[in-house]
Amino acid sequence: MGLFIAFEGPEGSGKTTQLRRLYRRLRRAGVPVVRTREPGGTRLGERLRALLKRADQNPAPEAELFLFLAARAQLVSTVIRPALAAGQVVLCDRYSPSTLAYQAYGRGLPLDQVADADRLATGGLWPDLVVLLDLPAEAGLARRGRAGADRFEAEELEFHRRVRAGYLELARSDPERWLVLDAQVPPGVLARQVWAHVRDLLVRRGLFPAKPVNLGRLLHRGNH
Ligand code: TMP
Repeated sequence: MGLFIAFEGPEGSGKTTQLRRLYRRLRRAGVPVVRTREPGGTRLGERLRALLKRADQNPAPEAELFLFLAARAQLVSTVIRPALAAGQVVLCDRYSPSTLAYQAYGRGLPLDQVADADRLATGGLWPDLVVLLDLPAEAGLARRGRAGADRFEAEELEFHRRVRAGYLELARSDPERWLVLDAQVPPGVLARQVWAHVRDLLVRRGLFPAKPVNLGRLLHRGNH
């Protein structure tokens, strides 16, 4: 079994940049790693992503929830579970915590029902680690800028405040699995904090340092 890490945060938290840095670091260290994103990561998921972000769509909150869950169900069954079963580290840009924060805390759908529906979509797969890059809603939106805002970025400030508060409440309820970091420190400092935590986790799971590839065996196999 590999290791499943989700990156989470409000708009403009820099999670995509941090995920990319961790991905490169793991690759350099020879750790088998895949990276993916939500919504997206599959052909179906990327089509749903485009629909979900378009400002000219106005789905009912329940419809929006099930579109995110459809994308997730496809990603879990075709990408995430197979990668974990192959012993890989999976880095996912957003996952179930986004649904709890945005659709439950943000949109106001009942948290327990959203969590139940999410468990159905994922078969109960929850990340080993959720890295939450936290910052005030105003600061995140200012970083993004309003030009070309997608349907979520264009939401009112109060919506984004509820999302942030939701994330922090979720993190408090499961501190073992959540790593909450201040997204406003310089990106290089943040990257080192993420790596220190992930490295410890990998060591504890026996996934780091990566086992050297047995070249002899590979070459031998190649002769057949
Ligand atoms: P981003 O990952 O590029 O930030 O865009 C995804 C947007 O979709 C972001 O505004 C958060 C939102 N979202 C939800 O509302 N619920 C979800 O379950 C997921 C994965 C994303």
